[in-house]
Amino acid sequence: MKRIVLLGPPGAGKGTQAEGIAAKYNIPHISTGEIFRANVKEGTPLGIKAREYMESGHLVPDELVCELVEDRIQEPDCANGYLLDGFPRTVPQARFFDEFLEKMGQELDKVIDIEVDEDVLIPRMVGRRVCRQCGRPYHMITMPPKVEGVCDVCGGEVYQRSDDTLETVQNRFRVYNEQTSPLTEYYKEKGKLAPVNGDAGISEVFGAICALLGE
Ligand code: AP5
Ligand code: MG
Repeated sequence: MKRIVLLGPPGAGKGTQAEGIAAKYNIPHISTGEIFRANVKEGTPLGIKAREYMESGHLVPDELVCELVEDRIQEPDCANGYLLDGFPRTVPQARFFDEFLEKMGQELDKVIDIEVDEDVLIPRMVGRRVCRQCGRPYHMITMPPKVEGVCDVCGGEVYQRSDDTLETVQNRFRVYNEQTSPLTEYYKEKGKLAPVNGDAGISEVFGAICALLGE
């Protein structure tokens, strides 16, 4: 049973690492960013509300996010734990999540904080491509799909996220520093924070995360 939060700036490798962690511990990977992107693509009422915030690099309002996560983690596949990627992302979201855990009698195992400097992240993000269907991240130079434009895993179309332009990326860093980085202190005080150096190879980072999480 593992309940894990992945924290870290945009492009730190949350989505990249999530795939292996979810498989190893047999828990669902829940990415709020992916859920929003799917809703934008389908043109749902939630997607219509979220789109503007996402494309400008701002956070979607807490009330839209919290309700969505609360519903998702009560689904049957989360009975044996879950991996949250991109939530919580503000102190009010973290407080909401703590109240939820208490109400459900659940305990959070660890908050894995993937640390990487901003100057390393910019080229990572501007070169990133993702699968439109399953969300798997690629990189134009360091991790291209085997066939250009086609996802290795599901055959979906590999595209560039509309929030991965230089201008929006810079705004996302600003938003991260203002609203999300206070969560490291928040979880440190609770004894849950487990920092990992994210400026290493993908498999090295994975090894460090697994060492922190144990069997
Ligand atoms: P979200 O989708 O969560 O974006 P993010 O946090 O900005 O993070 P990213 O997905 O950009 O980065 P990542 O850490 O997953 O990196 P990746 O593994 O892809 O959120 C998008 C938007 O949705 C937000 O801006 C907001 O509007 C909204 N939203 C979502 N959740 C919300 C919430 N809770 N509250 C409010 N709003 C919310 O890797 C990046 C690249 O680097 C890839 O190309 C990869 O191949 C490469 N890479 C990864 N690891 C390495 C490595 N070790 N070495 C070299 N390259 C690497
Ligand atoms: Mg991601």
